Amino acid sequence: MNGFAALEAQIDDLDLLRITGQIRRVTGLVAEADGLPLPVGSSCRIICRTDGNRELEAEVLGFEEGRTLLVPCGSTAGISAGDRVLFEGDRFRVGVARSLLGRVLDGRGAPIDGRGAIAAEQRIPIDARPIPPLSRRRIAEPLSTGVRAIDALLTIGRGQRIGIFSGSGVGKSILLGMLARATDAPVVVIGLIGERGREVREFLERDLGDEGRRRAVLVVATADESPILRLRAARVATAIAEWFRDLGEDVVLLLDSITRVAMAQRELGLSASEPPTAKAFPPSVFTLLPRLLERTGPAERGSITGFYSVLVEADDLNDPIGDAVRGILDGHIWLSRSLANRGYYPAIDVLQSVSRVMQHIAGASHKAAAQALVEDLARYRDVEDLLRMGAYVRGAEPRTDAAIDRIGAIEKLLRQTPEERSTLAEAASQLIAIYEKPLAASVPPLPGGGGGAAVAARPAAGAASSAPSNTASKVAASRAGAPYFPQQRGRK
Ligand SMILES: Nc1ncnc2c1ncn2[C@@H]1O[C@H](COP(=O)(O)OP(=O)(O)OP(=O)(O)O)[C@@H](O)[C@H]1O
Ligand SMILES: [Mg+2]
Repeated sequence: MNGFAALEAQIDDLDLLRITGQIRRVTGLVAEADGLPLPVGSSCRIICRTDGNRELEAEVLGFEEGRTLLVPCGSTAGISAGDRVLFEGDRFRVGVARSLLGRVLDGRGAPIDGRGAIAAEQRIPIDARPIPPLSRRRIAEPLSTGVRAIDALLTIGRGQRIGIFSGSGVGKSILLGMLARATDAPVVVIGLIGERGREVREFLERDLGDEGRRRAVLVVATADESPILRLRAARVATAIAEWFRDLGEDVVLLLDSITRVAMAQRELGLSASEPPTAKAFPPSVFTLLPRLLERTGPAERGSITGFYSVLVEADDLNDPIGDAVRGILDGHIWLSRSLANRGYYPAIDVLQSVSRVMQHIAGASHKAAAQALVEDLARYRDVEDLLRMGAYVRGAEPRTDAAIDRIGAIEKLLRQTPEERSTLAEAASQLIAIYEKPLAASVPPLPGGGGGAAVAARPAAGAASSAPSNTASKVAASRAGAPYFPQQRGRK
């Protein structure tokens, strides 16, 4: 250490130069301190003097009538009236380095995998500003996710942000694990927020595996940790993704789940006496969500493709968090419990899912085949019950007959075990092949002939004139981003 650095370190250690305050009151999660004129978001340490001078990290949440409201990163047990509060810094920072790949961190950004300390190349604030709108590149390049149903029908662009919606236990985490292992992005940052402790280990060992882990950074805050740490884990994961993006990398950020992040903010907001709104979520939740989600996307150099899982509580499709998130993101993937109940995995309901970017990044024959498949699936669903009862009569609706004949090939494309490997190119060519193959002689060809080029000439899935019922127009409305949840409810 040179002379200046030593001096700097000494000055840093001088408490005299620090802004300090004193704890006056603790209610619920929030501690109130006097004499601490700090901006919101500042970082502090509470010295718990009756608890062996234990130091407790805390963040400034707000202020009220001259008192500063602090949320400790941990339990408030052990804090006493009169305890000193020391100012640490204007913002929380996290140490970042390329060597983070393969590591598991907690909500503070500290390693918890027992593999030693991380030599930080830089310390960056965990709350960067979103990319200014005019610095965002257009999303133009596709990302191979390795999940056939997504690559084929909901093609994702590098820098796109997608929500994965479902009730509990329908396969969100396993799908995110598949994505983490199989995507062609070189860096994957995973935030596991509010999970049960057991699930973290399961995700690491079962869903991610050694191969996925090598190029992944995991940031974990389990359900038993304080809400500020759970929130912080989401901010730390996003900041790490941003750092790799600024190195020019195409990063994939997986956040499981954004709902638990919103719940953590709800706990904090209510403790700080914010008024509750829908489902008791205070207004700060609805400002946090866009602030966090707008940080991902394509930048001038590099990109962050964000997948955010949304736990739709009790399968309530009008969930306020689901609604808010859907409005911010560039698409949604809906996992259906009825598909999962039938052992149909990944349980992606492609009729209720949409990638708003696919139109701009997929090739013409790929898009046309995808539209044809969606229409086939919609037609098949309309007659599925009749088929099961043996009441369906062939011949009345030749296009539906054709859909029924293709359903085996369609299911083969869409169903995938977590171990099965695939790429975007393979998924697209498998999809196109379904519509290039001539069907049995009894089935009339598709309008225009039935070949790959002819598929491209077919009317879009939503062309009402060709629909046997209003299904196709429902599909078109859903895929164009119109509200789709009420229809989903009817389906269950
Ligand atoms: N691709 C798959 N193949 C086979 N089984 C699957 C698949 N995906 C999910 N499952 C089954 O569904 C169960 C729940 O999956 P998962 O833990 O991913 O759900 P989740 O939506 O993340 O649940 P939670 O809401 O509790 O976090 C798994 O334990 C497994 O039995
Ligand atoms: Mg899960």
